[in-house]
Amino acid sequence: MPVSKAAPSMKKPQEASISITGLAKRFEKSPLYQNFSLEIPGGQITCIFGPNGCGKSTLLNMIAGLIPLDSGQVRFGGRALKDIKIGYVFQNYRDALFPWLRAIDNIKYPLSSTGVSSRQCRLRAEELIHQFDVGFDLNRYPYELSGGQQQLVSIMRSLATKPKILFLDEPFSALDYESTLSIRDKLQDVFISTGVTIVMVSHDLEEAVYLADNIVLLTKRPTQIAEVITFNAGRPRTPNILSDPEFVRLKAYSLDVFRREANRS
Ligand SMILES: Nc1ncnc2c1ncn2[C@@H]1O[C@H](COP(=O)(O)OP(=O)(O)O)[C@@H](O)[C@H]1O
Ligand SMILES: [Mg+2]
Repeated sequence: MPVSKAAPSMKKPQEASISITGLAKRFEKSPLYQNFSLEIPGGQITCIFGPNGCGKSTLLNMIAGLIPLDSGQVRFGGRALKDIKIGYVFQNYRDALFPWLRAIDNIKYPLSSTGVSSRQCRLRAEELIHQFDVGFDLNRYPYELSGGQQQLVSIMRSLATKPKILFLDEPFSALDYESTLSIRDKLQDVFISTGVTIVMVSHDLEEAVYLADNIVLLTKRPTQIAEVITFNAGRPRTPNILSDPEFVRLKAYSLDVFRREANRS
């Protein structure tokens, strides 16, 4: 089945694009990545999908500078990581928030901890509360919030500094369906209003196609790119798109590629 190739972003200059070249990484015995290269366009949503243990989290962590590469290079519109603001949302929201801080102070933390005035922190928090249309009490502590509320707080915190790139590692994998749908659409709204580059690992192919401009399908280890699939539907995408013929076609095609790769010995 023909698949359109990744189109360059028309929305934004490529300042928040990501170029990964010649990446290698191994843990103990077997290589995870060997001479791995990937271009992630700026100002778009890119979802990464692949078999369990193929290295999706490791890839995100290496791009975001949380763990070192063995060799290779990651550049952001030609610049180094230190020259670009990023946000990161972890898979496990239970461990991600500071339990001793109220939700609102968790959200402000990336600003307050770097000396931003309390007035500026408050204004930015108010902006985020408005943007995410938060309907629960942010003066509560994380343990007093539901999983969906905690993950929403994590996402708001990751956006506090107005990052150019937002990384999310399976952000909805531990959430109930209702929370997932609601937070997913809020995330899409933030993307539409800010144009932040989003790189998200997803464990759900339907979700990946629903959200993404580009779906990166990975192979089993040593991990390579099986295919990059582009979905150009306009935004906001709503659940109506689930029955759109192009959506259905790309989801089925992605599943075929995934199955083929998962069964490869
Ligand atoms: N710190 C580590 N030490 C040793 N092995 C690791 C470490 N982190 C990840 N791995 C291994 O690397 C592989 C990829 O892990 P991960 O990136 O978490 O996969 P995914 O997110 O795709 O499920 C797995 O086999 C995992 O066991
Ligand atoms: Mg993972």
